Amino acid sequence: MPEIIARTATADYPIFIQQGALDHLGERIAACVQGRRAVIVTDDQVGPLYLERASRSLRAAGFSCSEAVVPAGEASKTPEQLASLYARFQETGLSRADPVIALGGGVVGDLAGFAAATWLRGVPLAQVPTTLLAQVDSSIGGKTGIDLPQGKNLIGAFYQPRLVVMDPAVLHTLPRRFMADGMAEVIKYGLIGDEPLLAQVEQQACDLEWVVSRCVRSKIAVVARDEKDNGERMLLNFGHTVGHAIEKATGFNAFSHGEAVAVGMVIAARVGEQLGETEPGTCDRIRRVLEAYQLPVRADIPLTAILLAIKSDKKRLGSRIHYVLLRRPGEAFLKPMAPEELADVLGEVWPRG
Ligand SMILES: NC(=O)c1ccc[n+]([C@@H]2O[C@H](COP(=O)([O-])OP(=O)(O)OC[C@H]3O[C@@H](n4cnc5c(N)ncnc54)[C@H](O)[C@@H]3O)[C@@H](O)[C@H]2O)c1
Ligand SMILES: [Zn+2]
Repeated sequence: MPEIIARTATADYPIFIQQGALDHLGERIAACVQGRRAVIVTDDQVGPLYLERASRSLRAAGFSCSEAVVPAGEASKTPEQLASLYARFQETGLSRADPVIALGGGVVGDLAGFAAATWLRGVPLAQVPTTLLAQVDSSIGGKTGIDLPQGKNLIGAFYQPRLVVMDPAVLHTLPRRFMADGMAEVIKYGLIGDEPLLAQVEQQACDLEWVVSRCVRSKIAVVARDEKDNGERMLLNFGHTVGHAIEKATGFNAFSHGEAVAVGMVIAARVGEQLGETEPGTCDRIRRVLEAYQLPVRADIPLTAILLAIKSDKKRLGSRIHYVLLRRPGEAFLKPMAPEELADVLGEVWPRG
């Protein structure tokens, strides 16, 4: 099975990407952990599809296996659901050597990941991402966390998994809108550092296993150089400054994350072209590929609402916004900008009416 090793300052761990990998989950985990009691955390949409296969494989590898099923969706990334997982771990007698397995999308990965990071000050975590977004993005890099009424992802920890197992075949049951969401991130990887990936995606006939492993390699390379998100890792935020602002300004329900990032990437390209930093034509190329995947390329939101949301972004370092721009498709850089400077240029490019 193809195996990628993620190297970070705190841990090295293997990432397995293969069709049918779900049926080999137990043996993979057994090779990476000492304990033989496992809790699989999943949600109530992924559970009926894949829980039985995952737990069968774990039992075959000698684990005694329990499950915790949370309701699907962002609303489960709460202190209450976290407490329900701790209660389940307690009931199961989960010890410091026993694994927690996050079987699901980014919601399950973040919630179960944070539970694993904090239960007994940290138990082994296996990420088994089942959405395209989770496979190419959230399951790698070690960010875990939950939301509070005050904001998304306000509580969290950097906690690297012991291993990641991805089965691209599970993406066949993923609803179309979530598939498009993940494609926005895939396109982002192409734009910031992998032009050949972008070119393949533009053909619309690419192999998902290949696409996922290409994105995973990009992400681990960046994370290895900047685990705690102080420098290069910020390039992964291409399209996200405006993307997050769109999500926030619309109360997190008009645009999915990927849709908001899609619009954010178009705006970032337009800003770059306006400033003479981005090769002309880049913005048009981005719009074409996004439209091919039914992703939006504009948002009818007043610029004032966007600027307000950008101002309150927790990822701002000091008084400057680290805006990610492209030189050309495949090459990104950070441009520190004063908020007024960004407001001015957004004023020039923001679609009107
Ligand atoms: N930790 C990180 O670095 C990081 C990065 C990006 C996003 N995130 C987080 O990820 C979350 C979003 O993740 P997501 O987009 O995967 O959403 P999600 O976990 O809510 O999954 C989307 C939907 O698809 C369903 N689903 C999952 N896999 C399926 C499958 N194979 N077949 C059918 N249905 C399936 C889920 O039940 C859910 O309803 C957000 O909370 C975000 O904050 C974290
Ligand atoms: Zn994102």
